[in-house]
Amino acid sequence: ATKIGILTGGGDCPGLNAVIRGVVKSAVGRGWEVVGIEDGFDGFLHPEKCRPLGLEEVRGILPRGGTILGTSNRGNPFAFPIMREGKVELVDVSDEVRSRIVQLGLDALIVVGGDGSLKIAQELMRRGVPIVGVPKTIDNDLLETDVTFGYNTALETATDALDKLHSTAESHHRVMVLEVMGRYAGWIALESGIAGGADVILIPEIPYDIDRIREAIIARCKRGRRFSVVVVAEGAYPKGGNRVLKEAAGGKSVVERLGGVGETLSRELGGVLEMDIRVTVLGHLQRGGTPSTFDRCIGSRFGVKAVELVEAGAFGQMVCLKGRHITSVSIEDAVRSLNLIDPSGEMVRHAEALGIMLGR
Ligand code: F6P
Repeated sequence: ATKIGILTGGGDCPGLNAVIRGVVKSAVGRGWEVVGIEDGFDGFLHPEKCRPLGLEEVRGILPRGGTILGTSNRGNPFAFPIMREGKVELVDVSDEVRSRIVQLGLDALIVVGGDGSLKIAQELMRRGVPIVGVPKTIDNDLLETDVTFGYNTALETATDALDKLHSTAESHHRVMVLEVMGRYAGWIALESGIAGGADVILIPEIPYDIDRIREAIIARCKRGRRFSVVVVAEGAYPKGGNRVLKEAAGGKSVVERLGGVGETLSRELGGVLEMDIRVTVLGHLQRGGTPSTFDRCIGSRFGVKAVELVEAGAFGQMVCLKGRHITSVSIEDAVRSLNLIDPSGEMVRHAEALGIMLGR
């Protein structure tokens, strides 16, 4: 019988369990066997982390956040961190991974991951491992799919936070800054900001001008709106400030951990505004919780489609959503750069038409 492996790599996100369940149900339906690899690619290095997945293992997991397989950001087999004489060395352990795949008798591997895991998948493909990819990330920064699963749930969490911040902002006549995730992309900030009626939205794709933000907040006060709600993406930066975005677009990132921009902004604004400012960092709340209906649905369908691709021998392909259809594209095309917001595109124009200040 056909035997397939599945792993979840990189940061977790809501909907991963829906994908795992979708894969297991449709594979078992074909009489196939499924092996779950725990903790991302790392699991291949530990035989006890490669375990059979059947219908019993996926029972009741659909509404659960996280991933029953566990995940890891550190398991890149081409640069695997190993401690030697008190120092961390990055070692290529990809041969070990490939021999484990042979040893397990896997006919194919389904990699559920963001751009990091999919780049690793692509490299393993090049070395002969038959792989199908499934796009996962709350950041929605993958090309070639209308959306990644996990994003919708993160968006709901951010919008809910904005609704809650609004009432307290208004009562206290404050500026409330909400820092959201998204890495180098501003999708979570922009869409939750539109949905949550933010006054200012700052995204990495549009370096912000602090004077213009201040003017916008003061103008609101003059119109009798003595409070403002600002959403800032963790990757946002001031005009002439750091160049995280450019580095990212070039395929390399110098700054691995983002964040702290909410506080920076509050300091910058605090010097020029009389109003009280408070910062909320939404953080990993955006990655947790039960997946939304949308994420459960596309997650499940992505799982089914991944199995169909394996059956068709369409290796090197990534499942994707185009319009209302689940189809596929090459992993290579999906990871060639990041899906960022077009500063002169429709969504930004519509936000500005709604009177939202985009930092410029
Ligand atoms: O890529 C998902 C993401 O949640 C980003 O939005 C964020 O920058 C990063 O992961 C946080 O990573 P960690 O879980 O390592 O703190």
